[in-house]
Amino acid sequence: MKVHVANHPLISHKLTILRDEKTDSPTFRLLVEELVTLLAYEATRDVRTTSISIKTPVTATTGLVLAEPRPVVVPILRAGLGMLEGMTKLLPTAQVGFLGMVRNEETLQASTYANRLPENLSGRQCFVLDPMLATGGTLAMAINYLIERGANEITAICLLAAPEGIKALEDEFKDAGIPITLVTGSLDEKLNEKGYIVPGLGDAGDRLYGVV
Ligand code: URA
Repeated sequence: MKVHVANHPLISHKLTILRDEKTDSPTFRLLVEELVTLLAYEATRDVRTTSISIKTPVTATTGLVLAEPRPVVVPILRAGLGMLEGMTKLLPTAQVGFLGMVRNEETLQASTYANRLPENLSGRQCFVLDPMLATGGTLAMAINYLIERGANEITAICLLAAPEGIKALEDEFKDAGIPITLVTGSLDEKLNEKGYIVPGLGDAGDRLYGVV
């Protein structure tokens, strides 16, 4: 698995405000959107393109456009939904599928409660959106789901990642046989005893949408 920790002063600046417990939900949502657009720029570096002929007002030439089939963007509900707008801003023609996953706060095990994905993802490039890579359980389950449906290249985009989560994904996908990449805004220090990322930003879903 390839891991890319974005190292850019604008990302660090926005992440610092995002982490601050005083940042309110409207500002938090706006910052998540902006951060994802910046991370998506890195994450789409290898998005597939195809060559087409066009005419400029001056001459005939060739250029690159996104190839078919279109990439698939998969936000993991609930918190990944807050990342969708920032991603589709950069990839407006992408197809969007949804996976609803929840983590049991005691066992930290992930389970799926909703799925709206194309049955057949053969040959598709997929971008999975989940703000927090903590234990790695949710992302591992989501990536396995996409592999089972035939995806042949998967990039996960997270705002923050814990070393424990990265190790879990590396172990899980060492023999995946397809390229898997993680792009994260920061590599944080660790997980605490409750499975929260430290220093982290708290519960991403609650900070985006309030406590339910
Ligand atoms: N999920 C969150 O929302 N926050 C964490 O710190 C870990 C998992």
